[in-house]
Amino acid sequence: MLSWIVSKAALVCYLVGKYLEPFSLSLEKLQEVSAQLQKDMTRGLGKHTHHRASVKMLPTFVRATPDGTEKGDFLALDLGGTNFRVLHVRVMEEEQKVLKMDSQICAIPREIMLGTGEQLFDHIAECLSEFLDSQKLKRQTLPLGFTFSFPCEQKEIDKSILIRWTKGFNCSGVEGEDVVKLLKEAIHRRGDYDIGSVAMVNDTVGTMMSCGYWDRSCEIGMIIGTGTNACYMEEMKNVKRVEGEDGRMCINTEWGGFGDDGSLGDILTEFDKVVDKTSINPGVHIFEKMIRKFETRFISEIEEPDSGLENAQQILTKLNLKWDLVDARVVRLVCDTISSRSARLCAAALATIANRIRLNRGLDYLKTTVGVDGTVYRKHPNFSEELQAAVRLLAPKCDIKFLVSEDGSGKGAAMVTAVAQRLALQSRL
Ligand code: GLC
Repeated sequence: MLSWIVSKAALVCYLVGKYLEPFSLSLEKLQEVSAQLQKDMTRGLGKHTHHRASVKMLPTFVRATPDGTEKGDFLALDLGGTNFRVLHVRVMEEEQKVLKMDSQICAIPREIMLGTGEQLFDHIAECLSEFLDSQKLKRQTLPLGFTFSFPCEQKEIDKSILIRWTKGFNCSGVEGEDVVKLLKEAIHRRGDYDIGSVAMVNDTVGTMMSCGYWDRSCEIGMIIGTGTNACYMEEMKNVKRVEGEDGRMCINTEWGGFGDDGSLGDILTEFDKVVDKTSINPGVHIFEKMIRKFETRFISEIEEPDSGLENAQQILTKLNLKWDLVDARVVRLVCDTISSRSARLCAAALATIANRIRLNRGLDYLKTTVGVDGTVYRKHPNFSEELQAAVRLLAPKCDIKFLVSEDGSGKGAAMVTAVAQRLALQSRL
């Protein structure tokens, strides 16, 4: 009996292994992916090519990282997943501290995620109102950093047009509209409080800025979680869509859209195609869909070195699936393979950015820091190691330090607002 199970397991694993072959990407393939992304990034930055670019390369109007002189009290809003957060953040110059004074989480019910824009922003304004009451802050008019983790065409730091919803949101009447205006209108409809200047922030930017407060060489922000994306400091002379040649600006790459024009066709597997077709946004965010699949929590548990197999069995039971020992092994093998591809693809994308920064600056060798956040990166047992190992191979002339961000979407948003305020003050002097 035992030998029968062993030989069945070996046969099944061999057959499954055949299916999984297209998931293993060689170093050469990853170099090709990186070269393609480099081309797409240049298209995204170009004045006449950006309209059609799949990698949007959105200017963020964040022109500097923190220099340690920022200070003050700020509100931060964080919308990007199923929960919405409101925070009160204090930046203290003398003690070089960013303190989260308090925060509140509000759920976003599914009807609101799929309802009208007015309902969504009224809900946000109501949560903010309750929070300000609880903090006795309603009489103050505090500047606000709004982490809105969706692709937006930013016109200024406080004007941001939603290009399209992602990650399960689909509220009507918001795509093509200025999100800051919609937020302010909802607050004015209530009329019981007001807010100061607003800075719109993508979560990647918040992540970079929150790490940048501790490490001045942090010039890249990366998220690997419900979605995946990265931002970095680009030379202004390369940002053809914004006036001015001097200094740098943070670019939100929106690398999740890489491959939307078919450029990843040769590495897409039949399974990737099914995932895309059955999603609520077929044809959109192809790279992102190759990175995130199935609940990360499950994958992490299944790949746990010691208790993984047992966890796999429990998860299959929870999912109401019939299983035997061989199935549990197969599930584990599939999870390993998919996570490994995901880590290596992210590595290729990150190496592209690091190599680009190095060449932009004419350096033989670049030392830089990446601020990182997201459940896949934080929680998966070996994702971060695999990603870092692959980046070392793909960007051999870059020494990249990884810093896990501490609340990039909250404290980081406050930092963006604080830096914008400092620059505005400096320009008035
Ligand atoms: C999606 C969004 C992007 C965000 C990322 C991570 O890709 O389009 O703006 O940064 O998810 O949350």
